[in-house]
Amino acid sequence: MIPAMPLQLRVFLCLALSIWVSASLIPAVADDLVYTTKEPSRDGTGKVYLGREIAQTVSSHAISWLERRDREGEERPSLVLENLEVDADDVLADIGAGSGYFTFLLAPLVPQGKVIAVDIQQEMLDFVEGRKKLKQVTNVETLLGSIEDTRLPVGGVDLVLMVDAYHEFSHPREMMESIVKGLSPGGRVVFLEYRGEAPEVPIKPLHKMTVKQLTAEMGAVGLELVEVRDFLPIQHFVVFRKPVPPAP
Ligand SMILES: C[S@@+](CC[C@H](N)C(=O)[O-])C[C@H]1O[C@@H](n2cnc3c(N)ncnc32)[C@H](O)[C@@H]1O
Repeated sequence: MIPAMPLQLRVFLCLALSIWVSASLIPAVADDLVYTTKEPSRDGTGKVYLGREIAQTVSSHAISWLERRDREGEERPSLVLENLEVDADDVLADIGAGSGYFTFLLAPLVPQGKVIAVDIQQEMLDFVEGRKKLKQVTNVETLLGSIEDTRLPVGGVDLVLMVDAYHEFSHPREMMESIVKGLSPGGRVVFLEYRGEAPEVPIKPLHKMTVKQLTAEMGAVGLELVEVRDFLPIQHFVVFRKPVPPAP
């Protein structure tokens, strides 16, 4: 038999139980509202965001592929640099920087600013640090992010570049919310993603993105589409902007 409890103790236990239940339920409910699951397809995680199955993460063993010699010929990164339109003192963030292939192309564009290379794999950031020392580059910083948070300084970044990375973020909504927090008002986000609309682009389907899908996902975190420039051989160059709040 359960012994009778004083009223105050019963009230206290009920309150404690309801706080514990809601605290343990909130993240699960929020996650369920944003993501759904399906049977994973090849190269997929089975996690679905706004109709798109999230791709598996590329491992640090892929550094040699990211650094391949013919990348300039295949993807024309030099054209990307010409189209970024950054100022010499801008703070740039290369999110999902990998081996830092783009980080070190960006660094000379901002001699009075800096480039923050963010990745969730320490091995990638170690590679960036090694190259930074070797080339004596002084305006590159590495930042270990989490799968949900870039850990960028709040309002401290003028332009975020994501090259062939966003489609494999396991928590795209949380990542984009943290990127929006890190951007200055009017700050830009530039995506280079293999064209999802083009079946002839020889990349696995989950590692491509359509402009329509990107626009829907960026709209969900309040970013405005600025333009799509298709000057690259197989990738989209898509620009979004964080709105500037109206003057009071
Ligand atoms: C295909 S690589 C692209 C690397 C680089 N942008 C390039 O084009 O050479 C994708 C990178 O995104 C990183 N990544 C995956 N999820 C991430 C997250 N939530 N935050 C930051 N980086 C992430 C992976 O660790 C990997 O290094």
